[in-house]
Amino acid sequence: MDASSQAAADVRPLGATGAAEVLERIVENVKRVIHAPDEVLRLSVLAIIAEGHVILEDAPGVGKTQLAKALARSVDVRFSRAQFTPDLLPSDVTGVSVFNQKTNEFEFRPGPVFTDILLVDEINRASPKTQAALLECMQERQVTVDGVTYPLDVPFMVIATQNPIEYEGTYPLPEAQLDRFMLLLHLGYPELADEARMLAEQATDDPLESLRPVADGADIRAAIAAAKALHVEESLNRYVVAILRHTRSDGRVVLGGSPRSGIAVMRVAKARALCDGRDFVTPDDIKAVAVPVLSHRIILAPEARSTGTSGADVVRDAVGHTAVPI
Ligand SMILES: Nc1ncnc2c1ncn2[C@@H]1O[C@H](COP(=O)(O)OP(=O)(O)O)[C@@H](O)[C@H]1O
Ligand SMILES: [Mg+2]
Repeated sequence: MDASSQAAADVRPLGATGAAEVLERIVENVKRVIHAPDEVLRLSVLAIIAEGHVILEDAPGVGKTQLAKALARSVDVRFSRAQFTPDLLPSDVTGVSVFNQKTNEFEFRPGPVFTDILLVDEINRASPKTQAALLECMQERQVTVDGVTYPLDVPFMVIATQNPIEYEGTYPLPEAQLDRFMLLLHLGYPELADEARMLAEQATDDPLESLRPVADGADIRAAIAAAKALHVEESLNRYVVAILRHTRSDGRVVLGGSPRSGIAVMRVAKARALCDGRDFVTPDDIKAVAVPVLSHRIILAPEARSTGTSGADVVRDAVGHTAVPI
């Protein structure tokens, strides 16, 4: 069965209340092992429902790998992990055709991308060629090896981690490829009390070991379908485009938000509305997701960069200056 017919066969109806409950269960579960702002945890779950990939960028040791593992463990789907290193080859990600001496035929050995949630740890340590192979799978949701195309399943989500360039920028992802990630999230340092509690929790066992799934693939596929079906007023589509245009005409910017990034904003906004128990999108949904969806896609002029402006500043200003539809 191909991915789409499998998804269709497997979708059971799930209203906004059901989706809200699924999101809540996953967030609460992840919170048991990760101390991070609620908003970051919610967004990472929304990405699954919006069928987007996530990149977690932050300093070493703030829980990026832990969060990715906790998300994957919270949903009862297939999970694989690829630690990116400089010697990793594209075929280590996608899979290879190998010759079987017994049958005299080539057979395909699927790589780690053939999964539901793929944790790509330290994505910027692999060579650009290997990164490109992964990004192609993410974009096309299929893998082509030796002329044969293999579709990936639904859901298929990549959660990648990277350290900021200042710490370890071996092979920074080109901006055009960062665009393949629906959301870029930062964890930040935990609150003092949380960080202190963490030291106690970690004194014995890794709390991750006791984490159990609280949703399954069918829950996720149903939420994906429900989010897609959500109604959006025409004025809100225009609102998103107005925000994008604002980023494009900002003097500090070389390249603003693309039409593709606008689609991403709307998909995450729909997932947010659904998980909030609504069957319609509001301007607040768009405002709430604009920065994590758009900021990593903004290419700043060198002068702006050198004075410390960030993509997030540009997006916040664009949202602040765009009239909200009523
Ligand atoms: N915010 C956090 N919440 C819970 N555990 C954390 C947090 N930050 C760090 N840790 C713990 O510190 C260790 C390193 O975290 P890890 O996820 O490997 O960091 P990173 O991938 O960001 O370098 C793990 O044992 C993890 O449990
Ligand atoms: Mg890590």
